[in-house]
Amino acid sequence: VNHPVRKIGVLGGGQLARMLAIKGHELGFEMHVLSREASDPAAQVVRMHHVGNPDNPSDLIAFLNRVDVATFESEFLDSQRLIKAADSAQKTVFPLPGLMGELQDRLSQKQLLGKYRLPTLPFTAVSSLPEASAFWREHQGGIVLKKRRFGYDGYGTYHVRKESDLQAAFAKSGAEFFIAEPRVTFKRELAVTLVREKSGAIITFPLVETRQVNSRCFWVKGPVRHRKFSQILLQLKRFVRGIDYVGAIAFELFDLGNNLVINEIAPRVHNSAHYSLDALSLDQFSAHILAVAGRPLPKPQAWSKGFAMVNLLGKSSNAPRLVTPEGVCLHWYGKNENRPGRKMGHLNALAESAEVALQRALKAEKKFTL
Ligand SMILES: Nc1ncnc2c1ncn2[C@@H]1O[C@H](COP(=O)(O)OP(=O)(O)OP(=O)(O)O)[C@@H](O)[C@H]1O
Ligand SMILES: [Mg+2]
Repeated sequence: VNHPVRKIGVLGGGQLARMLAIKGHELGFEMHVLSREASDPAAQVVRMHHVGNPDNPSDLIAFLNRVDVATFESEFLDSQRLIKAADSAQKTVFPLPGLMGELQDRLSQKQLLGKYRLPTLPFTAVSSLPEASAFWREHQGGIVLKKRRFGYDGYGTYHVRKESDLQAAFAKSGAEFFIAEPRVTFKRELAVTLVREKSGAIITFPLVETRQVNSRCFWVKGPVRHRKFSQILLQLKRFVRGIDYVGAIAFELFDLGNNLVINEIAPRVHNSAHYSLDALSLDQFSAHILAVAGRPLPKPQAWSKGFAMVNLLGKSSNAPRLVTPEGVCLHWYGKNENRPGRKMGHLNALAESAEVALQRALKAEKKFTL
């Protein structure tokens, strides 16, 4: 029997869960959140907040019993525990926890890319300093070491430009399991989000350029073009179909000039598509919720020729001074502590071109004391 989905659970309480909950409400769903603190960004916007740990089996089962279907904001949950909990509560989690598990590990993610012949940088698994040194000696331009699991916003990414950086990476990370890849000079970084319905239909959000500062997303602008994009898009669609993915999935790309290669995959809503909240007729959060609920997805239409997003990143641990600048849309996450580099909110701008929208959003960002 197929009851229509009414209650949707979100595992995790950060800003992605918050925006999923807000958009879920707008679509008429009863949104539930499982997170550790009642003050979490997502907990603040739902009545159905459940205090608990998304990695704790009994918290998970109790939570899943309260909802019709569930999703997550972070791919770093324990996939085996999630599979067991979903089994025992007889509920589905989308994207499927098995896929989440495969994509959360940089090594199995790269292997999956290989299986679908998706272009990515060459890589090797590294689990000791000598192995890392060997790879380093083969690559004159330097290498990048990435922790196999739990890396985000550059935490877990180590650029190795000189030999001593190798030891430093091992010492600083406390990890032993990495993938190593050559350090490349890209023209720009791009990203695209796809959302796949349960029925199999796929919608594609616009291709965007992203700018990372210290490995952390600072701004996004779009739409942009690349002559290899239509070709890679076909491969990405074949990939999401092949793994029977349901929900939003983001692909980060390096533009190497003549070639586009995939840097990484995020099996969830993603910072590079936050612009869609204001720039498109269908935003990524609504699209993800609809997909998870088994509903059809309308094609997103752009409201303007250009759009941009600028992250409001913490610069201190003082309380930020908020302003409401004209001509841009403010999305503030309600985090109770400011920290250097922490994503506190973002600004979206629309304009006659991507570049004008970006300049507008960057100018507005300067008005904040973060
Ligand atoms: N091989 C590489 N060569 C050059 N720069 C790289 C390479 N790999 C990563 N980078 C830079 O570091 C950034 C972060 O790397 P990556 O996206 O792999 O890790 P992350 O910390 O998991 O990021 P995210 O927050 O997107 O999850 C990239 O956006 C890019 O700017
Ligand atoms: Mg990344």
